Amino acid sequence: MITVNLIKREIDEYLKGYFEDKQGLNKELFDSMSYSLNIGGKRIRPILTILTYSLYKDDWKKVIPFAAAIEMIHTYSLIHDDLPCMDDDDLRRGKPTNHKVFGEAVAVLAGDALLNEAFNIIIKFSIKEGRAALLATEQLGEAAGANGMIGGQLVDILSENKSITKDELYYIHEHKTGALIKASVLAGAILGGADKEELVLLEKYGENLGLAFQIKDDILDVEGNKELIGKNINSDAENHKYTFVSLLGLEDSKALCKQITNNCIESLKSLKYNTVVMEELTNFLLERNY
Ligand code: IPE
Ligand code: IPE
Ligand code: MG
Ligand code: MG
Ligand code: MG
Repeated sequence: MITVNLIKREIDEYLKGYFEDKQGLNKELFDSMSYSLNIGGKRIRPILTILTYSLYKDDWKKVIPFAAAIEMIHTYSLIHDDLPCMDDDDLRRGKPTNHKVFGEAVAVLAGDALLNEAFNIIIKFSIKEGRAALLATEQLGEAAGANGMIGGQLVDILSENKSITKDELYYIHEHKTGALIKASVLAGAILGGADKEELVLLEKYGENLGLAFQIKDDILDVEGNKELIGKNINSDAENHKYTFVSLLGLEDSKALCKQITNNCIESLKSLKYNTVVMEELTNFLLERNY
């Protein structure tokens, strides 16, 4: 039976081997990319892609490259998110942030290169697999771009030191984090051959999951344990970010996170497939302490 641990192990192994044996004048770039990719990470996004694919097909190992490429996009976003000009953080995945080890210039370039490498992998995959892969790629490109994750990151940065509206806060969370999570869910389903109705349900699931995930991230920034989350806490307060915790307080943020998670579970239950593993993962994301 497919399990989250098994998928995580396979993704870890693929990513670990990916930049091995790279030599040449640009070796430092690969060392820097490989460092951030392989020092940890929950691998939630590729796991989601493989789980939704597995609702439809058994040969999930086939989509590992596509799923791992999503993790490269996510990792690039973390490297850039931690830079001094962004959130200025020095701990990530339990280790010094990329720019602390390799310097800012290499960190910027490593992020750029991870993004490009992700699309190289996905294009090669799509040449082989055809139309469904291209449709999944379309989702991912939109989600990672200016109208998705990067748009959310922009509004997040522009909103520092400000009291923003609830709608603006939802915009930030749904874009900077929600977009890539939703695309990870949809990409697997599209690759697996989901029909339109199923995609509507999974889109709602992905949207809610992404929002709950970032609310939980805001909560952990306040009451998480540095050793467990592998990041310094109070980063949001130090950067004067407006978060769900500033909007609602801790208790109401937790209640909202729980309510949105319940909506996620409902969407899963209305699919005609066995979604037990996805339900477990969804509940884990609510309860997580890292
Ligand atoms: C952290 O993402 C940044 C957000 C988008 C909230 P994760 O919590 O998935 O970080 P890793 O990949 O496990 O390190
Ligand atoms: C980051 O949000 C979202 C992206 C990297 C796109 P945060 O800035 O809250 O993430 P952490 O808390 O640093 O992981
Ligand atoms: Mg940030
Ligand atoms: Mg940050
Ligand atoms: Mg955060």
